[in-house]
Amino acid sequence: MLKNTLLLICLTIVFSAQKPNEEGLKDLFTDSFYIGVAVNGQQVSGKVPEELALIERHFNSLSPENGLKWEKVHPEMDRYDFEFGDAYVALGEKLGAFTIGHCLVWHQQVPNWVFVDEAGRLLGKEALLSRMEDHIAQVAGRYKGKIDGWDVVNEAFNEDGSYRESNWYKVAGKDFIKAAFRKAHEVDPAAELYYNDYNVWKASKRAGILTLAKEMKAEGIQIDGIGMQGHYMLESPSLEQIEQGIIEIAEAGFQVMITELDVDVLPRPGNTQGADLNINFANSPKYNPFANGISPESAAKLSQRYTDLFQLFQKHKDKISRVTFWGLHDGRSWLNNFPVRSRTNYPLLIDRDLKVKEDVFAKLKAISKD
Ligand code: GLA
Repeated sequence: MLKNTLLLICLTIVFSAQKPNEEGLKDLFTDSFYIGVAVNGQQVSGKVPEELALIERHFNSLSPENGLKWEKVHPEMDRYDFEFGDAYVALGEKLGAFTIGHCLVWHQQVPNWVFVDEAGRLLGKEALLSRMEDHIAQVAGRYKGKIDGWDVVNEAFNEDGSYRESNWYKVAGKDFIKAAFRKAHEVDPAAELYYNDYNVWKASKRAGILTLAKEMKAEGIQIDGIGMQGHYMLESPSLEQIEQGIIEIAEAGFQVMITELDVDVLPRPGNTQGADLNINFANSPKYNPFANGISPESAAKLSQRYTDLFQLFQKHKDKISRVTFWGLHDGRSWLNNFPVRSRTNYPLLIDRDLKVKEDVFAKLKAISKD
């Protein structure tokens, strides 16, 4: 009896320590949209309690940063690895978060074996689609009822709105996209299904995406929303460009999600916008100006940029269902390595010391009352 009481007391202490009730980012926007975060393996396995506490305090939606991508979850033809995924959905359940699956079909982070036969020749359409459908059945099937929304297809379009010449497209044409959504719906009819891409603020790219999305809808294929990856810079894209994207997607009859939000404060070599992972440059001091701390000017610009962005999101809260940050804190951001490796970037709302950027938080709090 005493033992049980002690156990109960201990559990209560642990539980309340993990449930900080200070106001978080998510609480500012509960009436507007979910506030999400992309999480990694360490975070879902609970190895870093301070990070877990921040996730719990600030976010009510989760996305898996890398752990459910094909190369991770299905590295070999006959081998699936669900270690991350199982821990991920368990965390989503524990937090009561709106839990996203990312992503079933993409041209990156997918092993080459997927596309070729035993002799190394590119597969035919039927064989490739059947491999893809099988993957969707296994992965979306395992998490049926646990994942609330899936990024079914990621980044299938070029900047001019034409289809990206990926192996998927080369072999199956745009049918691969339709087949992926059909299968995902068949496997988990209750899950929401999304198409996700970067630079959706570009009118030409968006036109291609929306043409297909409307065509799919007309054919009775479920597609609920379009994810606008928010890999933005301080000055680009303009708020008008982003707003136009939000409005057009909503007018076409789809939910809008700002997925993968971050703001790159470092200089970019050449004209590299968005998140084309094929682009990568070597590091140099010229491109890593804030190795020892961000300048006050850039910190102020970052804070203004987030204020402007959230003001825009708040204005369109009737159209936007979710705003997801791509990473928990600056030290964990992929932008420390893209498009230049090993830099010190400051793209998120939580810094590398796990401190919330209080000035930005205060401004967002003011906006959230609008
Ligand atoms: C794209 C993908 C994400 C992620 C980022 C970079 O935006 O959708 O999964 O890989 O690139 O981290």
